[in-house]
Amino acid sequence: MLFLPLLFGTVIEAQAVLQGAGDYEYSSFIDDIFGEVAGAEALTDRNQQIQLGQLSLSVESPVSASSIFRDNKLHLPDNDDLSDFTKYIPLYSGIVTFAHIEQADCFFDPDTKIDVAIVGAPFDSGVSYIPGARFGPNGVRQGSRRLGGGLNPIRGNTPDSKLRKLDPYHSGLKIVDCGDVPMTPFDARVALNQLYRGERAIHKHRTATSHYDNTRIISLGGDHTTTLMNLRSAYESFGNDSLAVIHFDAHIDTWDPEVLGGGISKYAGLNHGTFLHYASELGYVAKNHSIHVGIRAPYITEGDIKHDRDCGFQKITSKDVDILTPRGVGRKIKEVVGDRKVYLTFDLDTFDISYINSGTLEAAGLNSREVLTILDELEGIDLVGCDIVEVNTPPNSVGLDNTGLLAAQVVDSLLGLMVVTDVN
Ligand SMILES: *[C@@H]1O[C@H](CO)[C@@H](O)[C@H](O)[C@H]1NC(C)=O
Ligand SMILES: *[C@@H]1O[C@H](CO)[C@@H](O)[C@H](O)[C@H]1NC(C)=O
Repeated sequence: MLFLPLLFGTVIEAQAVLQGAGDYEYSSFIDDIFGEVAGAEALTDRNQQIQLGQLSLSVESPVSASSIFRDNKLHLPDNDDLSDFTKYIPLYSGIVTFAHIEQADCFFDPDTKIDVAIVGAPFDSGVSYIPGARFGPNGVRQGSRRLGGGLNPIRGNTPDSKLRKLDPYHSGLKIVDCGDVPMTPFDARVALNQLYRGERAIHKHRTATSHYDNTRIISLGGDHTTTLMNLRSAYESFGNDSLAVIHFDAHIDTWDPEVLGGGISKYAGLNHGTFLHYASELGYVAKNHSIHVGIRAPYITEGDIKHDRDCGFQKITSKDVDILTPRGVGRKIKEVVGDRKVYLTFDLDTFDISYINSGTLEAAGLNSREVLTILDELEGIDLVGCDIVEVNTPPNSVGLDNTGLLAAQVVDSLLGLMVVTDVN
């Protein structure tokens, strides 16, 4: 996104004009501001001459401020010309989509070709502790306003990595923001079914330039229950073969529904701490090739450890990151998933309590650089779908900006991982 420098350029020019006012007699202040003040043409000519070496900026020929403004009148567009409105858009303005990408009608226009779709799942009726993730999709979008393009000096972990040379927003892939799946807050069963149908409708789109036949999705949650539906639709759309699941989280989330949910009802048993139990039972999880990263929350019963293994997961705790190093963690994850199709789900509580607001915060978490390094180390995995969940950005909350910002940065990294294997 080149808007910022252009905008700053405009601001600096305007300031220079006003600063020069003392040196120059204006005919009318209003004319000077709203009419022709000082044109950029002569200045541009001079700059070109300097660049071409035809003119040198020597001390013998100083250019006085007043002469610059007298010689360089500002040429404003015709009063009915709005062509610059499509170019000079400040990053903090406009209708907010993720990283300013285009919005698409993903649900009712099945013919649109989409390579990667971003969609919100505003839902938090499956939370055991702090609600607020229903505002997550909006929070991530707000936090993404400074994203949208340009090479990044720390994307990728080495200077020669393919990621380092990638601008995922301008790679030729068609990346769109689908808005949110409408999910009722009043009945979790209906809401989750709505999400499944929404994901399925998006997955059915054909791609524009991607080597995948079906659209790949990055979902913005929403509490972690939503992942079960994302995973279900991804599993069905990418071959009905179990997917290697990379699960970033402070919690194992494979809890037996009888353990977490209290056995009150079957309905209560499906929540943000049990969805991986169900995902495993339903065959979506490639056993032994799936892994938790960042685990540190206490188990509930002694049986949890065995149950977790039976569900097919290996695990890297948050303190293991100290021993393995972030890049070592990335390499270990790649070893576990191999060349299988991967679904990556990222619970924001992977981050330490000091950074974010989430449904169930835990101390001793990862910092932002560790997370971004681990993610980039995954370059090359066959990532068919991913999500970020438990992003709590409710309104009327003070100091929540970091939550949306950090969530957006994770999505930016996930997008990089998705795009890097799909471009030459
Ligand atoms: C997966 O299975 C479902 C139903 O069993 C079927 O409708 C769908 O086409 C299958 N997907 C693929 C990619 O084969
Ligand atoms: C799972 O992995 C372990 C070692 O990593 C291996 O001993 C075991 O046989 C594997 N189980 C399955 C079902 O692949």
